[in-house]
Amino acid sequence: MPRDIRIFDTTLRDGEQSPGASLSAEQKMTIAHQLAALNVDVIEAGFPHSSPEDLESVSRIAREVRGPIVAGLARTMEPDIESCWKAVQYAEKPRIHTFIGTSNIHIEKKLRKTKPEVLAMAVHAVQFARARCEDVEFSAEDALRTDRDFLTEIVAATIEAGATTINIPDTVGYTIPWEMADTIEYLIENAPGFKEVWISVHCHNDLGLAVANSLAAVQAGATQVECTINGLGERAGNAALEEVVMSIRTRPDLFDCRTGIKTQEIIKTSRMVSSMTGFVVQPNKAVVGANAFAHEAGIHQHGMIMDRQTYEIMRPEDVGLSESQLTLGPRSGRHGLASRLRDLGYDVPDDKMPEIYERFLAVADCKKQVYDEDLAIIMKEASAQIVETWHLVSMTVVAGVSTSPAAIVCLEKEGEKITDSAIGNGPVDAVFAAIREMTGVELVLDDYSVRSVSIGADALGEATVRGHRNGEEAIGRAASTDVVEASAKAYLNAINRLQIKERRNGGAVGM
Ligand code: KIV
Ligand code: ZN
Repeated sequence: MPRDIRIFDTTLRDGEQSPGASLSAEQKMTIAHQLAALNVDVIEAGFPHSSPEDLESVSRIAREVRGPIVAGLARTMEPDIESCWKAVQYAEKPRIHTFIGTSNIHIEKKLRKTKPEVLAMAVHAVQFARARCEDVEFSAEDALRTDRDFLTEIVAATIEAGATTINIPDTVGYTIPWEMADTIEYLIENAPGFKEVWISVHCHNDLGLAVANSLAAVQAGATQVECTINGLGERAGNAALEEVVMSIRTRPDLFDCRTGIKTQEIIKTSRMVSSMTGFVVQPNKAVVGANAFAHEAGIHQHGMIMDRQTYEIMRPEDVGLSESQLTLGPRSGRHGLASRLRDLGYDVPDDKMPEIYERFLAVADCKKQVYDEDLAIIMKEASAQIVETWHLVSMTVVAGVSTSPAAIVCLEKEGEKITDSAIGNGPVDAVFAAIREMTGVELVLDDYSVRSVSIGADALGEATVRGHRNGEEAIGRAASTDVVEASAKAYLNAINRLQIKERRNGGAVGM
């Protein structure tokens, strides 16, 4: 009988900690429902004590999403654990996940404590959590740089205190597969009770080994893998869920185990997370990259025609690829759109549908085919609508060889129209300069990117602008079939968001 491996998804917690990946409460909700459709075992929905917004969004997910265990993260402190319980208590299956650093460097430099103090904090936190919740996970942060004796001691003590899952994180992505396997085997051998609880691993990808280390741990006896969609996460990210799951599924000859993941939901989930976070999936990314199932070389194509298995170890339909190819067009009706959106996991209230349909038609009129990726952008724009101080009315851009790029831009603020022009190093730079002049907001640009959302030269281009002023960061996004227009709208979106933040903080707001 194959062993069951739990898949613990931390896209909404560790994934969302990636700089620039912040998600709105609405987006987190949509992703959480999709993770339930993917059939993950655990959704780590956030870190409730970190902010009132996080507490609220974890609590909404706990109340509304059915199926997976809903976990919240907490440091080993009573107020953290109380906030966490407040957020997850109404889940069908709640979990409190508490953690503390156990390596010498974490204990001495970050926590400024001694080993006995850390041990006592961990034991108390687990007991305090268990008094509230039956399902408690303890993580020995930086476990792979923790000395073995202390790791064994704290693992045994937290199991004794009531932890039901013990997580062995490679917090800094330092380990290599055989060391990870050896650590799990050592703990199974030496830490009393370890075999009886769920044995979890949580691998970061700093050396590009997160998936390999997770699989080595599974082979050595781990029963839970913590991972994220598209490998999103702090720094180089976490182990990619889709790679862990498809490795186990593709090599039953090596792994005598199985996951409960509905693999046909993988592509849909990957695209949803990519479009909502703005983190583009590299084309050659395993399993979910645009080229993962593309065969270009003639010799490969020939082999594929004879027998797909010559060059294909997974079938595209097993990860849900063919389904997502369905397209809508300018002649698609409201019902067709609503039904496709439902299939993609969006729950659109009837009164919102006319506005969504109008946005859809605007895109469909410019393109022959509207793909799922385009729909994700349309939905993102509709749900991310903010009260816009500045609104783009029109713009004319001149660019070409041997001419100075220039832009004339007309903006509207509170019903009043203002027009200005500027020159720049390129058309986008000229548009940004004109907007800067009119709004009076000096946004320091940290990042600017444009990506094609779907297929073809007429694909929607999504522009992302990340900038800051006076220590306040703002991210703006917008999409259009015209990338200069998308860039202008994204820049304005960032300015509008910055002004809302500054107004809330009582700071400078420009003009
Ligand atoms: O990387 C890490 O150690 C973590 C823990 C909080 C599990 O994210
Ligand atoms: Zn982590």
